[in-house]
Amino acid sequence: MAKTALITGASSGIGREIARDLYGRGFRIILCARREERLRELAAELGENTRVIVCDVSDREECLRLYEETKNENISVLVNCAGFGAVGSFEEVPLDTELRMIDTNITAVHMLTKLFLKDFVAADRGYIMNIASSAGLMYGGPMMATYYASKAYVVSLTSAICEELKSTNSRVHVCAVCPGPVDTEFNDVANCKFGVSSITPEFCAQKAIEGMFNKKCIIIPEKSIKALCTGAKFVPRSLVLKVTGKVQKKKTGRLTV
Ligand SMILES: NC(=O)c1ccc[n+]([C@@H]2O[C@H](COP(=O)([O-])OP(=O)(O)OC[C@H]3O[C@@H](n4cnc5c(N)ncnc54)[C@H](OP(=O)(O)O)[C@@H]3O)[C@@H](O)[C@H]2O)c1
Repeated sequence: MAKTALITGASSGIGREIARDLYGRGFRIILCARREERLRELAAELGENTRVIVCDVSDREECLRLYEETKNENISVLVNCAGFGAVGSFEEVPLDTELRMIDTNITAVHMLTKLFLKDFVAADRGYIMNIASSAGLMYGGPMMATYYASKAYVVSLTSAICEELKSTNSRVHVCAVCPGPVDTEFNDVANCKFGVSSITPEFCAQKAIEGMFNKKCIIIPEKSIKALCTGAKFVPRSLVLKVTGKVQKKKTGRLTV
């Protein structure tokens, strides 16, 4: 069976572009998300060597089913891209939304990484790309608290696994992709708009895939975001939190400066 990539969150944005890019590199692609029609459209566009699996990764049983259905499909690249955010103060974002975000952005990434990593390590080959965010490199995100915290979990988990694999000279590689704003459907779902310029999902996907195959652990697609994240390390934590909070508030339209 041809080398295969499994991509969650493939119905839109960054995941869809990663699917297109990897297909162009000769991978057989398994597309996963909840919106079946979107996935079928993409599968038809790509052509042969694609499979569609409709799956809600916020449900633990569904994550297990996804693994069981694909574990014998010669997967050598797993991309955990499914995720979403919600803007608002901690007290105003509904608990249900936050718990679904934790299930999608954290639990599903954790489960699928764990399940596939064991097989990859046994075969001593494979790549896992976890789509985190530059939000995960900051101290926290006032007005988007749960989203920032969820992405910090992904960055921390992935960094630790990356080091564990390096220390055993494993050929398996895991990486966390940390983009700043990307022009996708993310804002429609999060109910906000970016206050700063964004990159295209095509550019983000290309940089993420190049970084992964070059065995980078933390991949920040855009240079200015990389500089911002580096600079933030030299600024007091309280100031970084204040500025991040203002940027997030601007997204809600409640701050115009
Ligand atoms: N856009 C940005 O500025 C940005 C920046 C940094 C990081 N990110 C991260 O990039 C990833 C992709 O987001 P995007 O920007 O491409 O946004 P997007 O266009 O809204 O795409 C999100 C994808 O996640 C899927 N998804 C959401 N919940 C799911 C669930 N429960 N089960 C299965 N699939 C689910 C959606 O598919 P269905 O709705 O069809 O299920 C969709 O394919 C996310 O993890 C996001 O946090 C985005």
